[in-house]
Amino acid sequence: MIDGCGRIIDHLRLSLTDRCNLACRYCAPEHGALPRDRLDAQLAYAIVHWLATRHGVRHVRLTGGEPLLHPHLIPLVERLSRLGDLHELTLTTNGQSLTQRAAALRAAGLDRVNVSLDTLDPQRFAQVTRGGNVQRTLAGIEAALAAGLTPVRINVVAQRGLNDHELADIAAWGLARGCTVRFLEVMPIGPLAHVMEQHLVGAAEILARLSARFQLRPISASTGQPAVDYAATGDDLRGVVGIIAPTTRPFCAQCRRLRVTARGQLVSCLHDDRRYDLTRWWDGRTLDSTGADTTLRTAVADKPAAGVAAQPACMRSLGG
Ligand code: 5AD
Repeated sequence: MIDGCGRIIDHLRLSLTDRCNLACRYCAPEHGALPRDRLDAQLAYAIVHWLATRHGVRHVRLTGGEPLLHPHLIPLVERLSRLGDLHELTLTTNGQSLTQRAAALRAAGLDRVNVSLDTLDPQRFAQVTRGGNVQRTLAGIEAALAAGLTPVRINVVAQRGLNDHELADIAAWGLARGCTVRFLEVMPIGPLAHVMEQHLVGAAEILARLSARFQLRPISASTGQPAVDYAATGDDLRGVVGIIAPTTRPFCAQCRRLRVTARGQLVSCLHDDRRYDLTRWWDGRTLDSTGADTTLRTAVADKPAAGVAAQPACMRSLGG
């Protein structure tokens, strides 16, 4: 699949639900209607099958909200992992209930997980996630490692005044366990954009903070990968850390992604508010792939060359 700017589109972020058992400050609004959208597992499978077999999608990331809250997640992963066309099936989670699910996810054929972890401090974790328990996420990461959902990637959203002094400690915690630790600039999207802007820690500062503790050597990036990765050594540790810098080093020109929300709508760019409804081609049993192709063609042709930060929706409803 090639978009209007000549970019190959072969990555899909599929949001299974917009519900989450946490409400991170940069992802969910403090007030407002509680989310309740959930993608029917049959439709989720049909969408991936259609995109993989007819349109060359090769990398699928299950996300949300919190995908572990979807009641039919394990059987869905089982079916998706048997689709021969995919190179990679992964999942992004906050890790709160990963301990109980890691082995089943691996047995169902999931390749690996990305786990969000912004701080190691129990109080700060509860504050940024509005009520989460850091021990549960740390135990979830250990369970994912034990189950072989590797390499486990830890996502850390760098936030001024919250975890900016802790970045090297989080890297050390992850490296000691063989995780890849990726630091993200906070993206000012959704209703909280103006607040999050004030908490931005740029890539240069993230790098400086990590360099104070580790020697970093850049590793050449693989295609479709917005992160800049580094081989890190120091403190008797070695491993990979990375920086994802959508704000100070936008990677729109290399973007290979398409998203589907928990409502079954295509989103061609995280910063674009247009939605392309796939449910109109779904009769509850089958997806009319010819019809869906027409919707896809429009979405892909419309994919902006570069995001213009005009996203009114919050991350939770977009599929992070
Ligand atoms: N800026 C940067 N990262 C974000 N995430 C969610 N919202 C934002 C934002 N506004 C991250 C989460 C998670 C991944 C799915 O997206 O931390 O790791």
